Formats: sequence, structure tokens, C-alpha cells
Amino acid sequence: MAIVRFGVSLEKELLDALDQYAEENHFTNRSQAIRHLISQNNVATKWQCNNLVAGSITLVFNHHKRDLMKKLTDLQHHYHDVILSSLHFHFDKDLCMEIIAVKGKAAVLTELADKLIAVKGIEHGKLTMSRAD
Ligand code: NI
Repeated sequence: MAIVRFGVSLEKELLDALDQYAEENHFTNRSQAIRHLISQNNVATKWQCNNLVAGSITLVFNHHKRDLMKKLTDLQHHYHDVILSSLHFHFDKDLCMEIIAVKGKAAVLTELADKLIAVKGIEHGKLTMSRAD
């Protein structure tokens, strides 16, 4: 792809924030940092739409919580057509982690993740994503 150069005007505070971001993420220059930010934003936008994406939903929870496992299972059966696979880890006596691999329309995966993460007793939940088209 052709590289296009352009000038950018922005507040000193924003520039400082950009430089800090570049340093923290070990980018060698501002262009690289900006490129990364834009492509990340593109993926985030895609996530809200009907594009095909793949990703994972990570859930951490105490499996003793009343009805929690049943609700998670019910939801996953309801969305079976976008679930590729799931892994369950028993961390200790109480705590579990489940990683659910998903692929489908971005909006559907977001909907599923929101519902799973909202189940009472879920301590941490996160949806990650990448393009799949
Ligand atoms: Ni477990």
C-alpha cells in the first residue's frame, strides 16, 4: 500500500500523551503509534457492526454462585451457532475461568459477551476480537 505523508496539528497535551503512549508501547516513532491507534479503532468500530469477526470471551467466576453455571450453559446453547469451542479451567476450590472461542457477526458476538458478562457472579469478563474477513 502507498504511504501518504500528512501534517497534523494538535494540542501540546495530546502530543505529550501520544509520545507517552508510543514510549510505553515501544513504538519507534509517532507514525507507528498513530497507525496502531487508527487500526485499533477500526477493529473496535467493526465490532459494532455486521462484519465477520473472531475472538474470545474470557470469564472468571466462582462456580458455587447460585444458578451461575446453568445461566452460562443456557446462554451458550442459545448462541451455539457462533461458538467454536470453550475451555474451562478450575483455578482452585472455588474459582474458575472459561475461555469461549467465537466467530460470527460482530454485533451478535458483542451481544453474547454482554449477556455472559452480566450474569450475576461473574467477577471478570472480557471480549477480545480480530477481523475474520
Ligand atoms: Ni471449574
